[in-house]
Amino acid sequence: MKLTSLIIALGLLAAPPVHANQPYIVMDGYRVDSQTYNGFRLFRNWCARCHGTFAQGLAGPSLAENLNRIGKMQFMEIVENGKTGQYGVMPAWSSNTQVMAGREDIYRYLKARADGVLGEVRPELAQ
Ligand code: HEC
Repeated sequence: MKLTSLIIALGLLAAPPVHANQPYIVMDGYRVDSQTYNGFRLFRNWCARCHGTFAQGLAGPSLAENLNRIGKMQFMEIVENGKTGQYGVMPAWSSNTQVMAGREDIYRYLKARADGVLGEVRPELAQ
């Protein structure tokens, strides 16, 4: 876990549940806000078969790692239009209304993974 992630995680423990600069809320390492949870569900339905159950990588690259260097705008663009590169072909999702409507939430989930705030665990909806 990177130091910044640890600080964020400790900050969340100390003063849950809101952290101003992050798009997600994670408590106790697995309880998440409804948008982040929706992102996980969408990811599981549409992306996990290539990127791994928890985005750790499979046929496609680890998004838990790569979202450290891909910005949000770039993420949105790649999901919409797809990408072909050294790993292979990532399909475009522009005609999938569920994915397109949920891109922000998928980003939330993946950002929490990339920041190390959420591990390779099945998140649950915080009540
Ligand atoms: C059919 C398999 C497949 C599915 C399903 C899939 N991807 Fe991908 N994805 C890939 C491959 C392969 C790459 C790598 C392309 C390359 O070689 O650069 C990739 C790359 C990406 C990248 C860019 C990563 C980088 O480092 O450049 C993002 C972001 C991404 N996928 C998000 C998603 C999301 C979000 C979903 C679900 C909506 C999804 N992918 C579903 C195969 C898939």
